[in-house]
Amino acid sequence: MLKRLSPGDGGLFSPPQPAKLALCMRIPSYRLCFVGLTLAVTGCSADGDPDNQGGNSGHGGMAGMAAGGGEAGSSAGGAAGNPGGSGGSGGSGGTTPTGGTGGTGGTSVPKVPFGVDKRVANPTCIAPARPTNAANDPFPKTIADTGCFDAVDVHKPRPALIPFEVAAPLWSDAAGKRRWMAVPDGKTITIEADGDFTFPIGTVLIKEFELDGVLLETRFLIRHTDGDWAGYTYRWDDAGNVATLLGDVVDYRFVNDLEWQFPSRKNCLACHSTSAGRSLGPEIGQLNSEMAYPGTGRANQLATLDHIGMFKISPGDPKTLAAYPSPTSLAGTVAQRARAYLHSNCSHCHRPGGAMETAIDLRYLTPLAETKACNIVPSKGQFGLPDSRIIVPGNLSDSILRFRMSSTTQNVRMPAIGTALVDKLGLEAIDAWITDLKTCP
Ligand code: HEC
Ligand code: HEC
Repeated sequence: MLKRLSPGDGGLFSPPQPAKLALCMRIPSYRLCFVGLTLAVTGCSADGDPDNQGGNSGHGGMAGMAAGGGEAGSSAGGAAGNPGGSGGSGGSGGTTPTGGTGGTGGTSVPKVPFGVDKRVANPTCIAPARPTNAANDPFPKTIADTGCFDAVDVHKPRPALIPFEVAAPLWSDAAGKRRWMAVPDGKTITIEADGDFTFPIGTVLIKEFELDGVLLETRFLIRHTDGDWAGYTYRWDDAGNVATLLGDVVDYRFVNDLEWQFPSRKNCLACHSTSAGRSLGPEIGQLNSEMAYPGTGRANQLATLDHIGMFKISPGDPKTLAAYPSPTSLAGTVAQRARAYLHSNCSHCHRPGGAMETAIDLRYLTPLAETKACNIVPSKGQFGLPDSRIIVPGNLSDSILRFRMSSTTQNVRMPAIGTALVDKLGLEAIDAWITDLKTCP
């Protein structure tokens, strides 16, 4: 049977957490939640107000929570504004997790100022030249040849690889993921006005996938010397010992009763689009969260990257910066969680210039009024629902966005590619938001 792991829980890398029990009740302006043994007081003044997607939400300890530790509260701030526009309050607005587990399934990971102490030289994990397909093509054929993993243990990243996690992950049929960045020595990351990271030429970004303890593939997004990016994936053998480069074709593998699809190189770039800046996860709102760094402890990712000099210009104190909540947590508001989900799972295709023949813009920072979704007649079919709109406040069955997300039918389902199963927890986050919406701004 297919086991539903919550995003971020990887059977192999971080044993599934026991289900969290949350009991919540509303008193006039707060929501009181008892989660496990921890008490969280959640300001909910911003919840339920469709025009108010945000204001300040405290995201302190969000990662600790995502990792199954304590429960974070959000601040009671409810000032109108773009979601995340004014950032979090660094945990001061709520109860801070005391027992963040950092995905290690029960062991408490200590909090440290920085997850990495200093930048480690990176002599080997550097973008290779594009593959030529010639007989003597030097493009690495197996993961052992890439220079990014340990020469003896190919599962172990080299010290120069910096691990990272995203607050709102992409749903990939409950697969667990590990992510790293490898930036060439002496080069730095530029932060764009919208918070998106632009990596220097030569950068290698890596994401490893496993499902129910089975290693599936390790994807490489590489910025070549011509300045553009390309995607490649290495498929692990059944024993999980050797990962071999796949050609530019879609490949398949069964894990229990799920048919896993290895995307083609074209598929990579359909999502890793130019309009989305090719790299997708690394941006301020996604990395302004804590992660449990192997061997050190829990630390804010932006502070860590800044500390070791990875940024061309420091973004400043993370507490002053946008922080997307984890969609499956209780951090932030209902609207912020839903918008973070849509941002991560949909906006790489649905954004201006996304070339998807639809006008909707599902980026987190786009005000709801400008998403071209709320009370807008769908341009790509109403599926027999005459009163349907892309989003209808308070009405799930007439909301086509929700309808498509809950479908598994080819050409209806959303996201269009990359998943076979409906993301039940993701859908819950969207449903809670649409149900809560009163009107379109
Ligand atoms: C269905 C859309 C989709 C497809 C297809 C896809 N990706 Fe991604 N990928 C994403 C999203 C969204 C993220 C960021 C969120 C996350 O990591 O959970 C991401 C993250 C990554 C990362 C981590 C760095 C980053 O940009 O966030 C790498 C590396 C990566 N993908 C490589 C690939 C490669 C290589 C392929 C093709 C073999 C591929 N991806 C296909 C959507 C996609
Ligand atoms: C890989 C690119 C891709 C991703 C990722 C993606 N979509 Fe789409 N989306 C499309 C395409 C292509 C269409 C047009 C489909 C058609 O013609 O029926 C579309 C159409 C839609 C429509 C219909 C719009 C209209 O005007 O009728 C909605 C709503 C939608 N997507 C929602 C989502 C949501 C929600 C997500 C994330 C959970 C998502 N999409 C992720 C490519 C994508």
